[in-house]
Amino acid sequence: MDKKLDIPYQEYDDEMQLASEDRELLRRADEMVDKAYAPYSGFRVGAALRLEDGTIVTGSNQENAAYPSGLCAERVAVFSASANYPDKAIEALAITANSKQAVNHPVAPCGACRQAILEYEHKFKHPIRVILRGTTGKIVVLDSIQSLLPFQFTKDDMVL
Ligand code: THU
Repeated sequence: MDKKLDIPYQEYDDEMQLASEDRELLRRADEMVDKAYAPYSGFRVGAALRLEDGTIVTGSNQENAAYPSGLCAERVAVFSASANYPDKAIEALAITANSKQAVNHPVAPCGACRQAILEYEHKFKHPIRVILRGTTGKIVVLDSIQSLLPFQFTKDDMVL
């Protein structure tokens, strides 16, 4: 039987259409873009997330001469949040990027980051709103990381 999935998301032309809390996360992600360590790719990514108590935790991509040893901005942010605030749910996460030229489209998290973000949705049973933008251009908002990872592997798949 053929089946089809719909992915719900919102798209905005202007960040003034967003709630001020989400605009703040984009601003903090932009600040992190400037702090990225990306000497090999030149592709700088910033991430900023808000915890349930309002705390903002940030990250930027960290590259390495041994390429696979580097880490994406989103995972730097969610791992930092979990390491420092292990009992606080993540409510929203913004991701922005810049390169040698401005990136004029929303940058979506890579597969490994989707999996890492999903872990914390399940841990806290709390959806994580994901706000995506490049340097400029449209903004995409998803109400849950599940929209970006419809077929998932979770602890419930493991028979231990
Ligand atoms: N990168 C991120 O930080 N997040 C993503 O979702 C995609 C890719 C980083 C990894 C690497 O440092 C650079 O962008 C190029 O892939």
